Amino acid sequence: VPPAEPGDPRGELAGLVAGTASLLRWCRRHRLLTGTGQAAGRVAGSTAPGTTVAEPPDSAAEVSVADGLEAVAAEVAACRRCALGAGRKNAVPGEGSARARLMVIGEAPGATEDASGRPFVGEAGQMLTRMLENVLKIPRGQVFITNIVKCRPPGNRDPQADEVEACSGYLRRQVALVAPRAILCLGRLAAQNLLGVTTPISVLRGSRKSWNGVAVFPTFHPAYLLRITDEKEKQAKKVLVNDDLLALKSFLEGDAGP
Ligand code: SF4
Ligand code: URA
Repeated sequence: VPPAEPGDPRGELAGLVAGTASLLRWCRRHRLLTGTGQAAGRVAGSTAPGTTVAEPPDSAAEVSVADGLEAVAAEVAACRRCALGAGRKNAVPGEGSARARLMVIGEAPGATEDASGRPFVGEAGQMLTRMLENVLKIPRGQVFITNIVKCRPPGNRDPQADEVEACSGYLRRQVALVAPRAILCLGRLAAQNLLGVTTPISVLRGSRKSWNGVAVFPTFHPAYLLRITDEKEKQAKKVLVNDDLLALKSFLEGDAGP
């Protein structure tokens, strides 16, 4: 089939099919389709006659996920479960799409994030946005971005084990609600804390891990890339991050199915 001309209804149809397939995959991840996983698989493949859908794929489930995420954010905003709560200007629960197929997990809010209440909006955040949009080709608004701890540690020190533990329930709930296909895990602290290991990030990166059944792609933190002063070393590390992002991209695209 030749590519659709502008204004060709086939282009619009292809968009509709892709959108519907994406919605069906999301419903399947949230177990909103009837029958076995196999039957649901056939729904997504759309070739099996007589396969039924339990509920119309409307946005009710999406609304309930968004409500759940808002509930987490409200609890985080009032939270004093660890000492970081006392020092924050604003809690930074995270932001993004309730339907995200990709979740990004960083370490902790920095000064810009603490001032605004939004994750990854400083210099490292701008690099993350370029990584998402230029390499993964996913608009920032289509992912869900959060951190291991939701409040800024004083002077940007590493979050402590007790703080990570106190905050971990919020992250677990966010991941369960969004049910992403993959997690991009930024930096040593995020990767080690999420995966429960002490392996160096230079060893963790470069391969796919798993957490509660979700694929995890660890890579270097953009703030780390920004801090490297040696130009050659910086370029070398950027190449590795690019490799990790391309592996993530092909994982997500492979998951999109035929
Ligand atoms: Fe609560 Fe997490 Fe903030 Fe600690 S860092 S006060 S556990 S939201
Ligand atoms: N670095 C992080 O790990 N998280 C942010 O939100 C910003 C910078």
